[in-house]
Amino acid sequence: MSADKPELDEDALLAGLVGPGTPDPSTLVIFGASGDLSRRKLLPALYALAVNGLLPDAFAVLGVGRKAISNEAFQAEMRSAVEEHTRLPFDEATWEGLASGMRYIAAELEDEAAGGPVTDALRALEAEHGTQGNRVFYLAIPPAAMENVVGSVATWRPTGGWRRLIVEKPFGHDLASARQLNAFILERFSEDEVYRIDHYLGKETVQNLAVLRFANGIFEPVWNRQFIDHVQITVAESIGIGSRAAFYEETGATRDIFQNHLLQLLALTAMEPAADFTADAVRNEKVKVFKSLERPASDEVVRGQYGPGVVEGVETIAYRDEEAVAQDSTTETYFAAELHIDNWRWAGTPFFVRCGKRLARRETTIAIQFKNVPHLPFALDSDDDVRPNVLLIHIQPDEGVSMTLNAKVPGHGVTIRTVNMDFAYGGSFRADLPEAYERLILDCMLGDAILFTRADEVEEQWTLVDAIRASWTETGSADPVAYDAGSWGPSEAEDLMQREGRAWRRD
Ligand code: BG6
Repeated sequence: MSADKPELDEDALLAGLVGPGTPDPSTLVIFGASGDLSRRKLLPALYALAVNGLLPDAFAVLGVGRKAISNEAFQAEMRSAVEEHTRLPFDEATWEGLASGMRYIAAELEDEAAGGPVTDALRALEAEHGTQGNRVFYLAIPPAAMENVVGSVATWRPTGGWRRLIVEKPFGHDLASARQLNAFILERFSEDEVYRIDHYLGKETVQNLAVLRFANGIFEPVWNRQFIDHVQITVAESIGIGSRAAFYEETGATRDIFQNHLLQLLALTAMEPAADFTADAVRNEKVKVFKSLERPASDEVVRGQYGPGVVEGVETIAYRDEEAVAQDSTTETYFAAELHIDNWRWAGTPFFVRCGKRLARRETTIAIQFKNVPHLPFALDSDDDVRPNVLLIHIQPDEGVSMTLNAKVPGHGVTIRTVNMDFAYGGSFRADLPEAYERLILDCMLGDAILFTRADEVEEQWTLVDAIRASWTETGSADPVAYDAGSWGPSEAEDLMQREGRAWRRD
């Protein structure tokens, strides 16, 4: 594998185009190629990699799906998907280059015999494009179809090249199913051939969390229970469930966002410094955090479901009135919890987490709230003017980091006001931030699993979720509480904070 680092070019660096080396020649086989993820995320990501010269010269894409369409129709569909979803201007020549190595084959992989024509098509494409038998299998398919496809792909004759498997979320729907899927996959592939997706890990701002913590000397000494009062992590969405009712009714906010994205953000915030920035070292540290998480008491968890309301100026309907949602559905569209990490660094410092659909606005943030000053030497009208410092990590949108400081308002006497010290990506770097999937596909082709989750990590995440879900049944609190669409969630979530004299951030 070529892992040579390119010369550091300042312009390319500022434009966000510095690549980690070029991957080996390879073929990407996408299962579920005509699906939504492929159209909205995967093809636009491949296109952006092509524009930035990050794909190998010998590269091909084989789409596999149920729909019976020709190569030409598939290419045309993918072209319009790229035109619609690309973050970069559409360039005809780049697209033509990518499309020339793109084929499609319709197959039902439940049927063992279907594997034959797919491997024939794959070998023909490999021979035509000189991809040397290196294969990435991207499973953008529903969980129910996973085992069939993995079972089938595992039997395909080795070619002398490497093979890697990218498995989309959700990875199982509880601990038992995740274990079963892990066992099934690991009987056929080795752990270092398996790349489990949590696309939040591919976001630039999430990767920057480690750099912020471990490349700046000022944070580590105060990053602990002595100086931090609490941490708030918010994954708020203004969208509803769109056309995903069937999926969401079975999933809910706890499985859809808390089990993966929220817990990953928590682990990256709380983990110990890894000895080096390699996949296993970082994943070991994250697993330690998951193992130290206390199971929350039932009054430390809130689940809500949106009613009707007004979101960003538009009237919206209740969850139960969404198409294909049961009128008596008890699926939660909001989840909040107070979590405690039982270790020396964090004992006594709670982590409040929340996620939900149809909230006031789209916002993912991590707020580190420091303890307040022990004594104020100023004569002020009100001590309320002096708020504790907050380090706010804006994961999205308005990507950046800000720190609140208390400053003296100019003039006679002492009046204090909170001001912000900001770092915004848009102001410091010239390029748009790459999409998470660009980084993830590229990393997999380079054989770097640092931004993917390991089997034990996923199982630890489910262990906590299963315990929380079991307590809902034990305590009979099966029904979520209602909240207005367009609000910040149920009042019970406010109470969760207020009983300890804290409040969710509002600005
Ligand atoms: C997905 C969830 O994993 O993440 C969706 O299944 C959610 O329900 C999405 O909308 C949010 O991702 P992003 O990148 O838009 O924050």
